Amino acid sequence: MSHLDDLPSTPGKYKTDKVLHHHRYLRLSKLTLWASLFLALFLFYLLLSPPPSPSRRNLNDSSASSAAKYGGSHWEKQVRKSSRPRTPHNGLTVLVTGASGFVGTHVSIALRRRGDGVLGLDNFNRYYDPKLKRARQGLLERSGVFVVEGDINDVILLKKLFDVVLFTHVMHLAAQAGVRYAMQNPGSYVNSNIAGFVSLLEVAKSANPQPSIVWASSSSVYGLNSKVPFSEKDRTDQPASLYAATKKAGEGIAHTYNHIYGLSLTGLRFFTVYGPWGRPDMAYFFFTKDILKGKTITVFESPDKGSVARDFTYIDDIVKGCLGALDTAGKSTGSGGKKKGPAMFRIYNLGNTSPVPVTKLVTILEKLLKMKAKKKVMPLPRNGDVEFTHANITLAQAELGYKPSVDLEAGLKKFVKWYMGFYKKKSSW
Ligand SMILES: NC(=O)c1ccc[n+]([C@@H]2O[C@H](COP(=O)([O-])OP(=O)(O)OC[C@H]3O[C@@H](n4cnc5c(N)ncnc54)[C@H](O)[C@@H]3O)[C@@H](O)[C@H]2O)c1
Repeated sequence: MSHLDDLPSTPGKYKTDKVLHHHRYLRLSKLTLWASLFLALFLFYLLLSPPPSPSRRNLNDSSASSAAKYGGSHWEKQVRKSSRPRTPHNGLTVLVTGASGFVGTHVSIALRRRGDGVLGLDNFNRYYDPKLKRARQGLLERSGVFVVEGDINDVILLKKLFDVVLFTHVMHLAAQAGVRYAMQNPGSYVNSNIAGFVSLLEVAKSANPQPSIVWASSSSVYGLNSKVPFSEKDRTDQPASLYAATKKAGEGIAHTYNHIYGLSLTGLRFFTVYGPWGRPDMAYFFFTKDILKGKTITVFESPDKGSVARDFTYIDDIVKGCLGALDTAGKSTGSGGKKKGPAMFRIYNLGNTSPVPVTKLVTILEKLLKMKAKKKVMPLPRNGDVEFTHANITLAQAELGYKPSVDLEAGLKKFVKWYMGFYKKKSSW
């Protein structure tokens, strides 16, 4: 309805003009009132909103948890201090991505302990309880490792870190792990394991000097390969899960950056890593939790009614393999994004060479926990898990000095001890 419809019908030109004039005035004041109100609301909104961080520009930010908290002179001081080796000019300067993760925490602490400079980076995402990641962060801080909260897709943050510190090495462990979760959230695998890896390589290849990079691939790349034990020469073109496919893609991407830009790249195919401070989404961890609670656990069997088996590898052995890979990594040959010559490209299995049936894992846990498990045996669903893994570690033995020494029973004993202590203290969790 038009506002003119409201005009009283009054005879006489003068009177009509006066009314019209009065009405126009009313209209104008109404408009001014609304405009002032709108302006006031807008100013109020501006006052309440935090200023945008100039350094936060995620190319592919899919997780709310990646909100970066960095910048400022105090922050730079912490970054420099953490990255400095104990003895100047002696020791590595390592950026560890995924530092608050299971493997990242152990590797960072081991590096720091022997005197290397270590800076952590982690986005503390909610794939599993972030409180566990924060507790690991506390452990890292007590060891002198500062963890920057940010995402590997945040290229501006990565560039900033490489500006502030001349990293000699990158230990790249940040990834979306877990095989089954890929059916719920496939995008998170592409975001971290592919896009994030490319962001990191892009920044590393342009850095001057370029760092040497060691990164975590996975035994899952062997997929449906049935030739045992799995050797680095075996085919890896039949992934059984999206997780495996993204790790396999990572190996191809690593080769490209090595070939074009002269980045030194070493991929490590970890085989089912377990131990204290482990990942709650892994069977040994949630079996422990459920057995203690008296809850039924589901144990999968292969289609021929055989037990599913894993080449369980204790965390301390994996850490030794990671340090061996960092220590033997050749220098990158490029600088400022230009290749100067061929650089090292390697891939190794880091396993334990003795697959153990999951039924045996349960028996060991029952013994250690002094409790009988309530079991439900089910056929292995087609959700990405493979029936068995078994590593051939000859290459890592020869070239990295890798020699796993902890068997499953001894390793689980340490895990259970940690679990009981940690969750007793955190009984409110
Ligand atoms: N644990 C195993 O059995 C195993 C086996 C094979 C391969 N791996 C690989 O080893 C590496 C470490 O695994 P883990 O068991 O410690 O897993 P984890 O989930 O405990 O650690 C990964 C860490 O990376 C962080 N992260 C994930 N996406 C990120 C991103 N976009 N930016 C910054 N941080 C991010 C997570 O918050 C987490 O703290 C991963 O690459 C994983 O795929 C692990």
